[in-house]
Amino acid sequence: MDLYELMKNRRSARAFLGQNIPEPMIEKLLEVANTAPSGGNIQPLSIILVRSQEGREKLAKLAGGQPWVKNAPLSMIFCIDFYRIKKWAEMCQTDFRGQQALNHFLIAYADLMAAAQNVVILAESFGLGSVYIGSIQHEIDETRRYFELPEYVLPMMVLCLGYPKSIPRTIPKLKKEAIVHQEKYRILEDDEIRKTFDDKYGKIDEDMEKYLERAFIEALEADKQEESKFVERVKKEMKRLDIQNNAQFLFKVRYPTKVMVRMNQRIKESIKNAGFEII
Ligand SMILES: Cc1cc2nc3c(=O)[nH]c(=O)nc-3n(C[C@H](O)[C@H](O)[C@H](O)COP(=O)(O)O)c2cc1C
Repeated sequence: MDLYELMKNRRSARAFLGQNIPEPMIEKLLEVANTAPSGGNIQPLSIILVRSQEGREKLAKLAGGQPWVKNAPLSMIFCIDFYRIKKWAEMCQTDFRGQQALNHFLIAYADLMAAAQNVVILAESFGLGSVYIGSIQHEIDETRRYFELPEYVLPMMVLCLGYPKSIPRTIPKLKKEAIVHQEKYRILEDDEIRKTFDDKYGKIDEDMEKYLERAFIEALEADKQEESKFVERVKKEMKRLDIQNNAQFLFKVRYPTKVMVRMNQRIKESIKNAGFEII
């Protein structure tokens, strides 16, 4: 398969075979993480490899119990790492204060995702599957404690990897014309915005499983992999809140806006606890 096809067809995998990833393959994945673009080539990045049963179980708990985190044979925790650079700068009689500079922080997060995405693509070409786990950001303190991350090191993203058992082919995307602008930003008409999202998600149909395959594959996967009754809870919540459309589903059920905003305090505290003074 050529690179275009491979990247176009990539979907997040959440069901993995038990088979381990061969060591030479892991080495290559780490090499491309390390050779990814980096702002100023400073490379403020550390990657923790988690393969042990104990580590996988802990990580799954930290990720809010998502079963694929435990089931993936390998997870990589991508961390912003200013600790190493700061020490080096001190040794060299200079002052690096990435923990105070929003610019360093934002660039470091971009670096981190560039490195992680390099891994995703190479993994795909090896016949592996992967899924990002962003929800680790809700548990930064405990992740830092358990994995013994020093000050100025922030776990920002997890990437789970393994040989896929199945890959969903039902994940919809916006039409690309909605996200691409020629030269200047083009404000879409309300009708166009509505249609764009309707086209993406389709109707909330009678067949709820079919809808969730497109709009909340995690709920279906969780129930397949564990006795979680996730789908049942989602359906109940949809009924309780009288969900009428896709946006209501997303921002009342899946990512309730109040909960998302309330989360700020916790994330800010964790960032401070790691010695950062940017917010
Ligand atoms: C920043 C980020 C965070 C994500 N966090 C999670 C997560 O916590 N759990 C999960 O199952 N998938 C997670 N995903 C995967 C997305 O759900 C997935 O990319 C999205 O549904 C689109 O599907 P696709 O990757 O198959 O195209 C995350 C993806 C990104 C880019």
